[in-house]
Amino acid sequence: GRNSVLIVNCGQLLTLKGPDRPRRGVEMRDIGLIRNGAVLIDNGTIEQVGRQPALLKKSAARRAATVVDAQGKVVLPGFVDSHTHALYAASRVDEYEARIRGDSYLRIARAGGGIQASAKHIRRATEANLIRRLTDVLRLFLEHGTTTVEVKSGYGLEPVQELKMLRAIKAGARQSPLDVVPTLLIHDVAARFKSKRAAYVRLVTERLIPRVAEDRLAECFDVFCDRGYFSMAETRALLAAAAQSGFKIKLHAEQLARSGAARLGSELRALSVDHLDHLSEADMPLLRRRGTIATLLPGSVFHLDSGPMPPARPLIEAGVPVALATNFNPGSSPTANMQMILALACSQMRMTPAEAVAAATINGAYAVGRGRLVGSLEPGKQADLAVMDVNDYREIPYYFGMNHCVAVVKKGRVLYRKEGARGRR
Ligand code: NIG
Repeated sequence: GRNSVLIVNCGQLLTLKGPDRPRRGVEMRDIGLIRNGAVLIDNGTIEQVGRQPALLKKSAARRAATVVDAQGKVVLPGFVDSHTHALYAASRVDEYEARIRGDSYLRIARAGGGIQASAKHIRRATEANLIRRLTDVLRLFLEHGTTTVEVKSGYGLEPVQELKMLRAIKAGARQSPLDVVPTLLIHDVAARFKSKRAAYVRLVTERLIPRVAEDRLAECFDVFCDRGYFSMAETRALLAAAAQSGFKIKLHAEQLARSGAARLGSELRALSVDHLDHLSEADMPLLRRRGTIATLLPGSVFHLDSGPMPPARPLIEAGVPVALATNFNPGSSPTANMQMILALACSQMRMTPAEAVAAATINGAYAVGRGRLVGSLEPGKQADLAVMDVNDYREIPYYFGMNHCVAVVKKGRVLYRKEGARGRR
């Protein structure tokens, strides 16, 4: 038909075909690889996926209005980056150098840096400026092969500033072709509440959460539950109010210390519990039983050099579905490149390249509540895919720190094509 697109010459087509739920255990190794594949798209939706010779026998494929030649390269679902703080108003590169010289993340935070520094930057920024920053950042995600991205608030802290951030996320999303999942994040107490924590929690539960729900400014709700940030009791109160207002729940858990936050998230049926650098193996059976996704963020462990990587292997072996995300933010993980996260997952956490791909696509999609819509290339799903200029998908993490993405199709539209893209190796 008029709006049909045919993608041909996919040297390796990674379909991620599988059950209608997050992948766990050995399922994470099955990426549904088709050699010499093709994809037929109609009106933004995937119609057919398969081997090229068989697919080209169908008349609908032969009549496709647009043909995209993948030139024998690797084609996979667009990455779903399920944990980012991608809206911020200024870099924190001074803290980066201070840490290199021996300062610590927590000491910098206590001295008014860290999240509080980003809150000062947000306060000084206009909404229009934030919208512009976000649309630029979304373009960066796209050029690296990401087609759906979760974006958290959490640098506003004061309710008016959180609302400003969330309105900017909504407006930026409307101007971008990417799918954006907005999350209200309660990240730290606003400065004037430093010795009045309970009053801040009440302000959030009684005013901010209902207002964000009423204005439909977020789909998910998240809390930084960790040592030095929100306690388990505070987090329970916040999550109860959020659940009552209808938000899906995500949780920052076990990043700085073991707190029990992962168990709490799992008990409250969170979509995902994120970070888990200090997760105990004793907590894994509960996560498996509840199907809670463990979203691992190795970018922050790398950038902060903060110690052991999250326990990816024990999680996969325990049957917990694992997702990977960039955690793009100016403090702990300044990268929008999911390909680099795959490299860290493989080299530092011993995930296989196949497991890393599943974690960055289909499991990321379930981690933002969109697993039925995106994250795999199957008939009926949204046609979101990326072309990588490699001959074997394992070369995506192998050639690390590079951008292999040469084309992106979103809802059946070619949104990005790298100039002069052709075989290099
Ligand atoms: O994921 N853990 C909480 N938040 C971010 C850091 C935020 C910041 O330093 O700006 C993280 O590491």
